[in-house]
Amino acid sequence: MAKLGKFEVLDHPLIQHKLTIIRNENCGTREFRQVVNEIAELMAYEVSRDMPLEDYEVKTPITKTVQKRLAGKKVVIVPILRAGLGMVDGILELIPAAKVGHVGMYRDEKTLKPTEYFVKMPDNLASRDIFIVDPMLATGGSAIMAVDALKKRGAVNIKFVCLVAAPEGVKALRDAHPDIDVFAASLDDHLDENGYIVPGLGDAGDRLFGTK
Ligand code: URA
Repeated sequence: MAKLGKFEVLDHPLIQHKLTIIRNENCGTREFRQVVNEIAELMAYEVSRDMPLEDYEVKTPITKTVQKRLAGKKVVIVPILRAGLGMVDGILELIPAAKVGHVGMYRDEKTLKPTEYFVKMPDNLASRDIFIVDPMLATGGSAIMAVDALKKRGAVNIKFVCLVAAPEGVKALRDAHPDIDVFAASLDDHLDENGYIVPGLGDAGDRLFGTK
């Protein structure tokens, strides 16, 4: 049976402080982009806590010794287009050898069915740790679709990493995919009638890219 995933709020003081900066409506594009990456980097430290290690013999200037190094295949960071892109560079600061896959989806206006328009992944997904990233977990619709898209391609060890989560989105994602771990920097209050997280930070994609 698949393991049961967890939901964890990563509320380190630095993360809380930086999140307050980007919640402010007066935070401009440049600072928003920078601080989103800083939060993603801090989160990556915690999210990668259970990465597997192996013994490795190293010769120091003094003697030979057996120490640890990361084992297995490289991690894959998978931003959900487009806002997820804003978290990639921050995670790469900490895990520079990670691969980066991409998932883009839209909802078909007629059928209302989620449709992939772009999925590009590295090989051997089944044996890699995968971090799907998207700043906002709102209804959970795109997160669920992204996990579906990855599982369909063989992924097993999936973590979902967001900055701000709504309780509705966390529930939907965990109901659909109980095996994955979900990490957020904040669990906010609720979704409003337009699907925005309250108090949230507005449209993360628009704020990252300076669009309207
Ligand atoms: N997507 C966003 O960018 N912001 C929200 O509040 C909800 C979904």
